[in-house]
Amino acid sequence: MAKKNIDNFIGQITNGDSAVVLSTIKSNSVDLVVTSPPYDELRDYNNDSVWDFNSFKKIARQLYRVVKDGGVVVWVVGDSVVKGNKSLSSFKQALYFQQIGFNMFDVIIYEKAGTAPPHKNRYFNAFEYMFVLSKGNPKTINLLEDKPNKWANHSTFGNVTRREQDGTLTPKGRKVVKPFGVRTNIWRYNNGKGFSTKDKIAYEHPAIFPEKLAQDHIISWSNEGDIVLDPFCGSGTVAKVASLLNRKWVGIEISSEYCKIANERLGLVCTEQLF
Ligand SMILES: C[S@@+](CC[C@H](N)C(=O)[O-])C[C@H]1O[C@@H](n2cnc3c(N)ncnc32)[C@H](O)[C@@H]1O
Repeated sequence: MAKKNIDNFIGQITNGDSAVVLSTIKSNSVDLVVTSPPYDELRDYNNDSVWDFNSFKKIARQLYRVVKDGGVVVWVVGDSVVKGNKSLSSFKQALYFQQIGFNMFDVIIYEKAGTAPPHKNRYFNAFEYMFVLSKGNPKTINLLEDKPNKWANHSTFGNVTRREQDGTLTPKGRKVVKPFGVRTNIWRYNNGKGFSTKDKIAYEHPAIFPEKLAQDHIISWSNEGDIVLDPFCGSGTVAKVASLLNRKWVGIEISSEYCKIANERLGLVCTEQLF
């Protein structure tokens, strides 16, 4: 069957299995994917779909195909603990992504301000992985500069000079340290009910991630007008933030109930200001 142009999917949440829906889209169509898959069946997602390594592999291969050269996939994932043993599904998925051709451009830690109570005799689990995968070198990188510099507005040591053609040195004045520098690859967010978004309806989904997380990735790896896909769209967080940042967006979600929540949420936010 002939594949469809991505324009047919823009600005909509398609209700279906991503493995199937993605397989109908033309190759090299998407600039950025920001998404979070089911984690080791940690939650009941209100549908009968099976999520295992095979279903992961099908979707991973489709993502590699539909992403443009230089496009990026941000895969936000955590592990469960089964009989005292961390699943490390995240690692297996990361290695598979590399095997099918993606570069692991970065592994960013999503540090959660709020954590669930730990299992007995365990430390609080306060992080998830955000794998930043690229098809070749990323074509868009807009690094976020929001780490306060300790020496902001102080001069750097020594005079900065320029050597002229006759060999003399001309002072260029002292450089001043900027107030903010590029952040590290540990990103901390307020999460959980009341913190991830102001949209009450979104909390009808059991596993949303913070809007600010989506915002930071969309700004980092795409430009205005680019196409941003979330193949596990849930309550529509990525779609909402992409729209507010003037990106085109495509959502896919297997549960019709979550599609309804996302559509309702998206209907409310057309003019909302981000952070
Ligand atoms: C971790 S949640 C994503 C939540 C989303 N990031 C948000 O902020 O609302 C994963 C979502 O993937 C959906 N899902 C599971 N398997 C799927 C599949 N094969 N195709 C499409 N969606 C699927 C689940 O119904 C669930 O809503």
